Amino acid sequence: AASTALPKMMDKGGQRRGGLNWWVAFGVFLILICVKEGSAQIKYTIAEELEHGAFVGNIAEDLGLDVAKLSARRFRIVSGAKKQYLEVNLENGILFVNEKIDREELCEQSPSCFLHLQVVIENPLELYRVEVEILDVNDNSPSFPWSEFNLDITESAAPGSRFPLESAQDQDVGTNSLRSYQLSANEHFIPNIQTRNDGSKFAELVLDNPLDREQQKRHQMVLTAFDGGAPERTGTALITITVLDANDNVPVFDRSVYRTSLVENAPRGTLVVKLNATDLDEGANGEVTYAFSGHAPLKVRELFTVDPYMGEIRVKGVVDYEKASVYELYVQAKDRGPSAVAVHSKVLVDILDVNDNAPEVILTSVSTPVQEDAPPGTVIAVISIPSNVPFQLHSSFKNYYTLVTSEFLDREAVSEYNITLTARDLGSPSLSTRKTILVKVSDINDNPPRFSQPSYTVYVTENNAPGASICSVSAFDPDSNQNAYLSFSIVEGQIQGMPVSTYVSINSDNGNIYALRSFDYEQLRNFQILVQAQDAGFPPLASNVTVNVFVLDQNDNEGVCATMLSQTPDMCQCNIDRFP
Ligand SMILES: *[C@@H]1O[C@H](CO)[C@@H](O)[C@H](O)[C@H]1NC(C)=O
Ligand SMILES: *[C@@H]1O[C@H](CO)[C@@H](O)[C@H](O)[C@H]1NC(C)=O
Ligand SMILES: *[C@@H]1O[C@H](CO)[C@@H](O)[C@H](O)[C@H]1NC(C)=O
Repeated sequence: AASTALPKMMDKGGQRRGGLNWWVAFGVFLILICVKEGSAQIKYTIAEELEHGAFVGNIAEDLGLDVAKLSARRFRIVSGAKKQYLEVNLENGILFVNEKIDREELCEQSPSCFLHLQVVIENPLELYRVEVEILDVNDNSPSFPWSEFNLDITESAAPGSRFPLESAQDQDVGTNSLRSYQLSANEHFIPNIQTRNDGSKFAELVLDNPLDREQQKRHQMVLTAFDGGAPERTGTALITITVLDANDNVPVFDRSVYRTSLVENAPRGTLVVKLNATDLDEGANGEVTYAFSGHAPLKVRELFTVDPYMGEIRVKGVVDYEKASVYELYVQAKDRGPSAVAVHSKVLVDILDVNDNAPEVILTSVSTPVQEDAPPGTVIAVISIPSNVPFQLHSSFKNYYTLVTSEFLDREAVSEYNITLTARDLGSPSLSTRKTILVKVSDINDNPPRFSQPSYTVYVTENNAPGASICSVSAFDPDSNQNAYLSFSIVEGQIQGMPVSTYVSINSDNGNIYALRSFDYEQLRNFQILVQAQDAGFPPLASNVTVNVFVLDQNDNEGVCATMLSQTPDMCQCNIDRFP
């Protein structure tokens, strides 16, 4: 502010007195509006806040008064103001500041401010009016009613939302009054300056970028009010914005899939897994509850429970590995805020087998009896072990085993076998099952009949009775049933030009041989017949045996027969070894 105020005087003709540069430099004006006899008006302009003694104007000179006579003429100034702001030095007629003038105190917010003085001088009485304009000096800073503003803004506020702030005040007027606002750099708000009808300005915050409580829940910035003075003065207020939560986050599971294992038959209440979903929101918006998803099957709900608050999944029913080795539990988490949305996850529960089942042997097919001539490798049985028992046995086919012959069998040696199968698992303790298969060996016609002797010798006394039995042959076949059913016959041939069938016959069932004629020692002393034994197998097998028949002379050879063959005089008994 200017420290002195110098008058500029202008007459009616508008001629200026005094150097132009001089008064421009000090910027103080005095306008002599009217100089009349006894009535003239002088105007001075000074800045407010001048110190005591500051020069206002040479009032005596400006009024054209003789300085030497001021006291004698009782020169004085009268003002309507409460305070004696201005005073005149009667020695030199200079008007000076008596008491510091605060324009704002004197005129408040009026755009212009004047001190009106009456100059009174007697002998003769003259009256002058003096107007002193008090110019504003930028002595006041803008100020806010509060040093800090606290705003609560929900994070869901849309960009463009406005938040008016109370305006700053500046006591000064004109250019020294409040002119603009500035907001410190920040990411979310821009200032918008509004002007009211009365010309006063206020700032509002305009949301530019959306807020996110989860990212930052408190923002601070400084609002600065500027006036238009030179130099300008400022006032600041701290703005603290608390971001209120909106339910804008869904819970997030800490794993997309939970994988865990559980031993079968785990007791009721056993903890399977603890779900953990976190929601970044606060309050009810962040409180997570857990449940099975809508499409979790009834079976799962019967076996497991979910604690809605703790997220713990526990066993509720009997978990049997043999029924399912893995369970898929679809679960969800939801917060308790408004318009909450459920998020989903999955729990894979591997059921661990406990060795509670002994292996079971299933005979899928058994081909018994087995023919004794079956080649080695013939399949006797297909054995399977249930697939839900964890065996580590190997075969060409999972859990399927075949029982095969390893060499030729001989029914005549061993007709049946008891084969015991043992299936043992690798559990702890190991459990096993035994199963006995009776394998019967069936007969094939692999044995020809065997005569009880390699050959037979028969002595027949001549003149025997035709039709009498002369001998009996026997044979044995180790095969069974029809393979061992024998029939005897006499192989066709000739004796002395006659068919053998005219000499002897044989009972095909029991091998008794009959003489069909009476033999004559003088004509036929011996002959041979070939007897065949044949079984009923398919194809049949047969064996031959030779029966030597000697005809004995009735008169002179009696003693021979008696000596050789027991005591029968008319017929020699065949030496038959019946088996067994
Ligand atoms: C839940 O998950 C969050 C985030 O992964 C983790 O900070 C917190 O410790 C977990 N709580 C429990 C009980 O495991
Ligand atoms: C096979 O076992 C059965 C039943 O135990 C028994 O009757 C039979 O005599 C046994 N056979 C052999 C050849 O061991
Ligand atoms: C038995 O003898 C007849 C006649 O000599 C002959 O054809 C047949 O092959 C013989 N059979 C056996 C098994 O030796």
